[in-house]
Amino acid sequence: MTQPQKGVCAEPNLHAQYLLLNVVDDDSQAVRAKLARVLEIFDHHENEHYEAMVTGMIAVGANYWTELYPGLIPTELTPFPDMQCEDRSAPVMPCDLFIQIRADRLDICHAIGIEVMELLRLHTELVEQIRGFRYLDGRDLNGFIYAADNPRGMKRREVAIIGDDDKDFAGGSYIHVQRYRHDLRRWLSLAPRQQEQVMGTTQEHNLPSPEQSASSHCVRASGKGIGEDIPSLLKQGMPYGDMVSQGLFFVSCAASSQPFKAMLHSQIYGNGEGDYDRWLDYTSAETGAAFFAPSIAFIKQQSLL
Ligand code: HEM
Repeated sequence: MTQPQKGVCAEPNLHAQYLLLNVVDDDSQAVRAKLARVLEIFDHHENEHYEAMVTGMIAVGANYWTELYPGLIPTELTPFPDMQCEDRSAPVMPCDLFIQIRADRLDICHAIGIEVMELLRLHTELVEQIRGFRYLDGRDLNGFIYAADNPRGMKRREVAIIGDDDKDFAGGSYIHVQRYRHDLRRWLSLAPRQQEQVMGTTQEHNLPSPEQSASSHCVRASGKGIGEDIPSLLKQGMPYGDMVSQGLFFVSCAASSQPFKAMLHSQIYGNGEGDYDRWLDYTSAETGAAFFAPSIAFIKQQSLL
């Protein structure tokens, strides 16, 4: 099977550095070559700091793809879906490049980030830098276990990676990112039972909550894939924040871009009977962008053209 980038199916880490960049010149040949060198930076640190479980991922924005790689376009790579209903929205912030650096050491994430930025400095401007961290035993800052339902083992690849039947884009993955900002003061004013109703799971063990309803997050976001029991996207986001604002940097990886769109639509617009995702009353998306993370071979081959 064509080798995907390691960050797509990575196991959970303690730290993340998410970088969003725009390309400011039209020297796409140089950018193609430098992206292949970013892969070398990831490899170097992976080997040098074996214990840190380093993984990296480069993803190219929907609007920039054709400029960087003229010719073939991944069939389902389209701009981030603009959705708005009452006070719920999914704002769009298109970006040319998304780089995800993950490791169990913050210093290594930082060191890789600095090297990548230096390499791309002449061609890009930094739009956003987010530091993700593992919170407690893998929870979102709202206190609920996050991404517990992520598929495991080979199922991760089935869900997140395009198979070899697509000759051009095998090993690639459709990536969606959104920066959510939580209103934790409001959230914490709810009783635990109300919180479980909103999320649709129990807080302690992530079991289906007896309080679950059609407007619970888990029900609205549910989009089961292969075998009925796992969602059809792999979540790679992590909590972020400082003393002023905090939330979840949402990242999803999938073999198709459809599940994310369908889930987001169901959360924002609901089921037509007023049942939208109540979790959106306590968190708001502030950015959103769509990318494609090609296979390692694709990035290397294109760097030679
Ligand atoms: C601030 C943003 C979000 C937070 C804090 C959040 C949190 C959670 C939590 C705690 C769960 C239950 C545990 C688990 O992950 O299995 C869950 C389930 C899920 N979430 Fe989210 N989520 C967020 C946004 C989203 C978005 C934007 C999507 C997709 C568009 C999504 C898709 C899902 C899916 C598919 C499930 C599993 C539902 C099922 O049981 O089938 N979530 N989320």
